[in-house]
Amino acid sequence: MHVPVLLDEWVDALVLDPAGCYVDATFGRGGHSRAILRRLSERGRLLALDRDPEACRVGLELAKQDARFQIRHAPFARLDAELDALGWREVSGVGFDLGVSSPQVDDAARGFSFRRPGPLDMRMDPGAGEPLTRRLRGVSERELTRIIRELGGERFAGRIARAILRAVREGRMESTADLEHVCFHAVPRAARHGAIHPATRTFQALRMWVNDELGQLRDGILAAQRRLRRPGGRLVVIAFHSGEDRLVRDLVDQAVSPCVCPPQLPMCVCGRKPSMRWVRKKPLRPSEAEVMRNPRSRSARMRVAEAVA
Ligand SMILES: C[S@@+](CC[C@H](N)C(=O)[O-])C[C@H]1O[C@@H](n2cnc3c(N)ncnc32)[C@H](O)[C@@H]1O
Repeated sequence: MHVPVLLDEWVDALVLDPAGCYVDATFGRGGHSRAILRRLSERGRLLALDRDPEACRVGLELAKQDARFQIRHAPFARLDAELDALGWREVSGVGFDLGVSSPQVDDAARGFSFRRPGPLDMRMDPGAGEPLTRRLRGVSERELTRIIRELGGERFAGRIARAILRAVREGRMESTADLEHVCFHAVPRAARHGAIHPATRTFQALRMWVNDELGQLRDGILAAQRRLRRPGGRLVVIAFHSGEDRLVRDLVDQAVSPCVCPPQLPMCVCGRKPSMRWVRKKPLRPSEAEVMRNPRSRSARMRVAEAVA
């Protein structure tokens, strides 16, 4: 089961017009989508996307029960194309709830978790791209170190990358258990039994790499900004990773303050006008009560912005 995070806060920020057209860019198991549908009138419409076919199966069942709702199996970087196909020129809001869902992590066969032995895959859409095992055969040590350091914030990135590639060469890198074992033994003894498991950051980094999560996020947020109704269309994003949260903040900042004139000029001559404004620049965090109820919500940060005329 997937427990939705910041559910009321996300829907309150997103749905201001019960008769509007909305997008849930990350359907998952539909907790946030169902909350949107409860707010919509008969005239309101909701399009959901997910790149995971299992999530879409659940969405198709919901679509049978509620004519206001439809789902597409597509990455949110394709938002423009999906809206064009429906003939929706603009929408009242686009919401994102990033990362993986609990059913994805819990299914050992998907290869997301070092706590569940399974094939080393990690693709959110098993029908697209290459599984992690194959990606690891074509990456240099330098690049892998960068990925683990930048996406995972892992301070032993160099040692871990070297150990992973040695295991790949020796044919010992086929399962999540293999990766967990290599990470554990690559870090110094003193770092093996800390607050978080030594494989945690590497698993997160490699998942983000295999799914190009930052590239997807960039394209998805830019597309959402282009398609919001002006003025008033809402963008609401929950991120669980500081790099994702930073990217959302920077992309919205660029739309809020697009002027590129040198600061010494007395007035703007570049002519670039803001297309967004912050509704909530300081990210909202879950309450202590929510974190107690759902520890997965611990690292969530929610940002809200609005299209301007
Ligand atoms: C945290 S879950 C969403 C949970 C959902 N809000 C709920 O209440 O059940 C994130 C979902 O987004 C999907 N996802 C992640 N990146 C995506 C992308 N680039 N395009 C489409 N779906 C994506 C994942 O497959 C996953 O199902």
